[in-house]
Amino acid sequence: MCGIFGIVTTREQQLGPILVEAGKRLSYRGYDSVGCAVIGADQAIDLRKDVGKVEDVARRHAIAEMRGLRGMTQLRWATFGAPSHANAQPHLDSDGDMVGAHNGNVVNNVELRAEFVAEGMTVRSTNDGESCVHAVERYVKLGLGMVDAIRKAYDDLEGDYAFVIGRKGEDCLYAFKKGSGLVAAIGDGFTCVGSDLPSLLPLTRKIVRLRDGEMVVLRGDGLEVRHVSDGEVVEREVEEDSETMEAAQKGGYPHFMLKEIHEQPKVAQDLIHLLNASKHLDRFVNRLKGARNLYLVGCGTSYHACILGAVYLARLAGRPAVPILAPQFLAQYLPALGPDDVGIFVSQSGETKDVLNALQAARAKGAGILGLVNVLGSTLMHASESYLPLACGYEISVPATKTFVNQCVAFLAIALRAGGHGMEVLKDLPGLIERTLQGVDVPVRDLAPALMGQEDMYCLGYGLTYPIALEGALKLKEVTYAHCEGMLSTEFKHGPLSAVDEGFPILFVGGAEDTGLLVSGINESACRGARTVVISQEEPRLRANAHHMLVLPGADPLLAPILAVLPLQLLAYRLSVARGYDPDFPRNLSKTLTVD
Ligand code: AGP
Repeated sequence: MCGIFGIVTTREQQLGPILVEAGKRLSYRGYDSVGCAVIGADQAIDLRKDVGKVEDVARRHAIAEMRGLRGMTQLRWATFGAPSHANAQPHLDSDGDMVGAHNGNVVNNVELRAEFVAEGMTVRSTNDGESCVHAVERYVKLGLGMVDAIRKAYDDLEGDYAFVIGRKGEDCLYAFKKGSGLVAAIGDGFTCVGSDLPSLLPLTRKIVRLRDGEMVVLRGDGLEVRHVSDGEVVEREVEEDSETMEAAQKGGYPHFMLKEIHEQPKVAQDLIHLLNASKHLDRFVNRLKGARNLYLVGCGTSYHACILGAVYLARLAGRPAVPILAPQFLAQYLPALGPDDVGIFVSQSGETKDVLNALQAARAKGAGILGLVNVLGSTLMHASESYLPLACGYEISVPATKTFVNQCVAFLAIALRAGGHGMEVLKDLPGLIERTLQGVDVPVRDLAPALMGQEDMYCLGYGLTYPIALEGALKLKEVTYAHCEGMLSTEFKHGPLSAVDEGFPILFVGGAEDTGLLVSGINESACRGARTVVISQEEPRLRANAHHMLVLPGADPLLAPILAVLPLQLLAYRLSVARGYDPDFPRNLSKTLTVD
């Protein structure tokens, strides 16, 4: 999700190829637009940017030719504000004296832009990276030096982001870190800064790690780290990094799946910030409120989020909604669909053919089209009248994890807003996700050997946790290659119970409100020999009856299903690795299914 890179050298040179290569190394994070800027010895700023792939933008704009002493690259992953030339980064200040780019989200962007216009600045885009530049410009115009202007701007810019900026007439770049990744490095005749280690590693292995609330001043022959709060210089040692490029991209985790599971507190936080701060949620909710019939359409994991979305909408907004697998939508609802109906089409990739087929058919009938999508610039985003971004950044691992959590967060926010409720309940979610991941880590590792050789399992849930049981079963199937069936717990006695014999594993997922049902279900199957695992909040009756328990922290019942999916993701991951599989790339599967 966006990436920045900046470099300062001791002598003017062709920086274009260095910037292009840095852009390629950042591209695994996902992006839709690319931009490069250099400042030469003559102090002129040369800025070239566009929508498209690094290679294409570099070719179209002859970026390799760019020369300078200082340079920066930005890859943009659009959140709000369409991918466009104007919104691509870097951005100039009003007079073209400064150039800067950011990575992350400035959540008071709309308010700040209005202020900048009122103060007479030239605002050229709707992108929040431009707000970072004007926030510095505001204080430079008051006569402050760059370090102090940046310190003031830091306080004005709300959100999680990292930012790099340079000014004509100087010999340095400045960067600061506020919630997004940023690492600095020192080389022979240059210093550089980037959103992550992979953007820097081929250039140098001498790394200077930065913390939130710190800024770095880069010169060709060295750098200094300062506290943003008081501007004081911080002593920070230079580390020699020995990681491989692939290991660096995985951020120290052995697989992208595990990395993405652990990114969930952060991406949930980002999305909650964004939804609170933007008008998009209101537009989206107003459109669905007036619908005659509301359909929630998706495939696989995205469909499971649709089911939870329907439960949230009914509970919180009294709004019936029909969750439906995209191909079945065509048979079951399309014939009766009319222009007063609305579909929310849900897709991580925004390119799933089954979903797009349903969307096109619905559009042909005049129905309203809303999108919940992670990859902005995707076909789904363009085809939607209104969309909400999932704000997860690139999900590399084939099994969806962080995008499922944010689909659920988005549906909860939609239902809260549609029901006229405040969003306070969401505030605790990132911390609870973090606590859950920490709390279940060891118990999941301990449980894995008991399930290691099992080729058949059930995963049962009820009400809010029914979609979680389906999702847990899908994760287990997808990465362990074992058969695991997700089911409404009350359906189990209507047939599948006959499959239970000695040691048959059954995972029960439940909220605090389901304890009675869980206790009956556990006993009904345990007395026939089943090995039972319960995923729920701490409850003595469950502990007394189940063979294994994965405990969730106490939380609002609305959040419990989102927390309950986390141990199932981790269990699937651990079993996959223990079986010797690569969970990131399960056999026979593709991340984006663009075929029928
Ligand atoms: C999830 O782990 C799967 N890889 C798969 O079910 C996926 O959710 C499905 O193919 C839909 O993809 P989408 O969200 O990109 O449309």
